[in-house]
Amino acid sequence: MARILLGVTGSIAAYKACELLRRLVSAGHDVVPLVTPGAARFVTPETFAALARRPAGESPYPHLEHADLLVVAPCSANTLAQLAHGLADTVLTEAALAHRGPTLVAPAMNSRMWTHPATRANVELLRGRGVELIGPEEGELAEGEWGPGRMSEPELVAARCEELLGPHEAAAGSLRGRRVLVTAGGTREPLDAVRFIGNRSSGRMGVALAVEAAHRGAEVTLLAANLATPPPAGLEVVDTPTAADLARELLARADGAHLVVMAAAVADYRASEPREDKRPKDEEPWRITLEPTLDVARELGERRRNGQVLVAFGADQGEPGLARKRAMLDSKGVDLVVYNDVGRTDIGFDSPDNEVTLITRAGERTVARAPKGAIAGAVLDEAERLAGSRRGS
Ligand SMILES: Cc1cc2nc3c(=O)[nH]c(=O)nc-3n(C[C@H](O)[C@H](O)[C@H](O)COP(=O)(O)O)c2cc1C
Repeated sequence: MARILLGVTGSIAAYKACELLRRLVSAGHDVVPLVTPGAARFVTPETFAALARRPAGESPYPHLEHADLLVVAPCSANTLAQLAHGLADTVLTEAALAHRGPTLVAPAMNSRMWTHPATRANVELLRGRGVELIGPEEGELAEGEWGPGRMSEPELVAARCEELLGPHEAAAGSLRGRRVLVTAGGTREPLDAVRFIGNRSSGRMGVALAVEAAHRGAEVTLLAANLATPPPAGLEVVDTPTAADLARELLARADGAHLVVMAAAVADYRASEPREDKRPKDEEPWRITLEPTLDVARELGERRRNGQVLVAFGADQGEPGLARKRAMLDSKGVDLVVYNDVGRTDIGFDSPDNEVTLITRAGERTVARAPKGAIAGAVLDEAERLAGSRRGS
């Protein structure tokens, strides 16, 4: 049984929190409802206290109680902003500041509020801190408009709570004493003083992996290539803007690492002679010769020591891409290839979600579309399994 803090905020979707609470309680969890004054306009705190099987107003300090999970569902735009900026003027936001552990947020709001740049920035801040968001879904909103903003259905939120609690409880400390190196983001190869060749990787997948490894007790170093999301607090972060920087830092640290997860999108080519100055604009074509960068995954595969597990992400398209990624097991000498289909627009580079195929020498399995935090859990589960079978063999 886990202890869950359930935050409910002033959204028309507050009624969905009743069903979520009912499901969590039926699953045997100890749930402490934290109802904002805004939410109390929609559903009374007494209703939540009754569903949680607790006397109303039981503890004056619910926010200081230890909890295994904080879930905020529905989360209004206002509370989302407060969480992002560390404000604490409701029982819920106080609890969020005191909470140390996984946090799941299910936003619900009008789609114009959801797409406002202020909300987008707040979402990025939260994600960067390792907070996981579920939804919102697209659909008809309470005002009769259509768009993203509906809170995810309670059964989906409850299922995600179980996943976050299950692996966490099982995996808590499972990487204690292990050193994990994670690469994240996309490298930029200079063409001149201001221009570069880059890619669309935001770094969210790598950051999610680093956060998950740290939750599991690992000593994590994140090699960060131009992250579009703030790096997580509490980890060693080394800036590696170019493929050469990333290769240098990775090779310098790899010998001491038990697990290396290469999630960064590293340039395969760079300009052979980047200009030091800014090339002035003129009418002439600009011919650039590209040369291959060091294949750092292969380099690591060749020099790895016993017991080290190497994981490489591979972005490609469709079935032919999958076949090319299968070949990476041998061509690069890695243990696990995580295949990302970049032909799809609903997952991958700019999306909070991902869907991947995990390829090992023993076989393949697809991890269904899920937030990147959940995908990170599946990747690390597989990496730990490989490490365990290595030790066993
Ligand atoms: C009928 C009604 C429905 C509302 N629904 C939402 C909503 O779905 N999402 C949201 O962000 N705000 C919604 N609001 C506005 C919030 O209730 C308001 O911003 C409030 O200050 C939120 O406080 P809280 O975040 O502390 O609960 C709604 C307001 C009203 C009157």
